[in-house]
Amino acid sequence: MLDVTDFILEDHHTMRRQFALLDDVWDDPRALGLVWKGLARLLDVHAACEEEVFYPYLLKYGDSGDDDSTEGDVVDETDDAIGDHDEIRDAVAAAGKEEPGTEAWWTAVRKAREENDDHLAEEEHDALPDFRRNASVELRAELALRWLDWRYAHDSGEGITYDKDPEAYIAEYRAHPVADPVDHPVAATSVTHG
Ligand SMILES: [Fe+2]
Ligand SMILES: [Fe+2]
Repeated sequence: MLDVTDFILEDHHTMRRQFALLDDVWDDPRALGLVWKGLARLLDVHAACEEEVFYPYLLKYGDSGDDDSTEGDVVDETDDAIGDHDEIRDAVAAAGKEEPGTEAWWTAVRKAREENDDHLAEEEHDALPDFRRNASVELRAELALRWLDWRYAHDSGEGITYDKDPEAYIAEYRAHPVADPVDHPVAATSVTHG
């Protein structure tokens, strides 16, 4: 059965591999530019996709902490994630303003790598296990289809969203929780197939 958390982990592996590729071609600005072009887009698209297809559902189905808690685990996990995404996006944008291979470019890329490494570890230790423990296999499978559907429509980077205010993001989805994806399956003739 498909599982949205597997697709997320697959992207994480690709990111780590592509950061390592930069080290392989460290003295070739042309190769650095081309590898980075793909990796920069993946970082932005992956974060936006999680914000569309994963975190709204983690907020609804993940571990909300103790009943008497005003701020549950999913709120902390989501707040951390959106804040991290913003940091990663800022570093990606900073690198985009520099010539690949220059010191200023490497500084921005190293910052993106550090922020991303920390963020992936947090997601893999907190948010993803929370979802695997608390979301049904049917829900994870349906979200996997939404993940694919969204990615087919946005892999070019077109129409993706960038910096978000974590508190506003959480407040929005707490006020208007997502509908159950299992009750509202993605259509076989969705926008990506048109
Ligand atoms: Fe991720
Ligand atoms: Fe993330």
